[in-house]
Amino acid sequence: MTDSKRKRVLSGIQPSGNLTIGNYIGAIRQWVQYQDQFDAYYCVVDLHAITVDYDQTALAAKTREVAALYIACGLDPHRNVIFVQSHLTEHAELAWLLTCNTPLGWLQRMTQFKDKAAKQEEGSVSAGLLTYPILMAADILLYHAEVVPVGEDQKQHLEFTRDLAQRFNHRFGQEVFTIPEPMIPLAGARVMGLDNPTAKMSKSETSQYHAVYLLDEPDMARKKIMRAVTDSGREIRFSDDPERAGVNNLLNIYQALTGQSREAIEAHFATARGYGDLKKEVAEIVIETLRPIQERYRELTSDMGELDNLLRQNADKARAVAQPTLQAVREAMGLLKKS
Ligand code: TYM
Repeated sequence: MTDSKRKRVLSGIQPSGNLTIGNYIGAIRQWVQYQDQFDAYYCVVDLHAITVDYDQTALAAKTREVAALYIACGLDPHRNVIFVQSHLTEHAELAWLLTCNTPLGWLQRMTQFKDKAAKQEEGSVSAGLLTYPILMAADILLYHAEVVPVGEDQKQHLEFTRDLAQRFNHRFGQEVFTIPEPMIPLAGARVMGLDNPTAKMSKSETSQYHAVYLLDEPDMARKKIMRAVTDSGREIRFSDDPERAGVNNLLNIYQALTGQSREAIEAHFATARGYGDLKKEVAEIVIETLRPIQERYRELTSDMGELDNLLRQNADKARAVAQPTLQAVREAMGLLKKS
């Protein structure tokens, strides 16, 4: 397939905390599955990671870790443009131009802003946390991405991006931006916390048994899954009942990683003796999924120089697309041309 026939996609992950199986199931797995069909741009969004309290001595290492994990999960760095957001000044520049076209009220009603702001200490919520969705819109719109593969929690940010792009195109009377569509997986769009299945599994949650990390040793991954919160029943069935959210979450993880239908999975577990059997099988499939990822990760990170080279080359490829878009935006907004 030629590039012009392939759909342009862009997505990104923040280098904050440790990547979880939620990030893999909700996002990276889809990126890998469809890499032959997409003209794809995947960035490590380090400028987003600094919107909340963070450790500046760990940020660079985390950024490399996430880039290496993209590749270790199966993204071919020669077929996908894998890059670091802050290596292109275009992202921050477009974000400012869009900021001046964003109604304040749109930002204030973002649920992720409200949730994250509530978790910060009083007085320490940065303006960057409020304007975060504008930077995300800039990431997407710079590349004319048609499709944005993300987990369900990013749906509101995608709607915001679409609204902002439409508003801009309308205000300046040109089709400067392509309107993107979200792509949310059918199974595993929202993996829940193992210790609290009513809350989303999150890499910024620090409690010990909350999430399986992509780099967890097999014994640790097994331990976390065997300790997952369930209920006092025995029946292993998919369910919307909040009381049964723990079992439902384990079944969703199993479904996402095996690709089997709900019916087949329920039939498979019909003779199980209890939730322990389900947990054991979920642990095995998770461990088997992570094993090759971890092996490849170790190989890749044994030569950081090569990884850095790759990121540099890919940033150049990204810039070749981002720069003309930014130029078109500057022109549409009437800024004096740089000589
Ligand atoms: P972030 O870093 O929180 O998460 C990265 C991706 O993982 C998905 N995800 C999940 N999916 C299923 N279940 C979960 N428990 C779960 N937790 C996370 C997220 O939906 C996301 O797809 N704002 C974005 C990063 C971003 C971005 C972008 C994404 C910045 N610019 C441009 C797409 C396009 C974020 O914080 O993702």
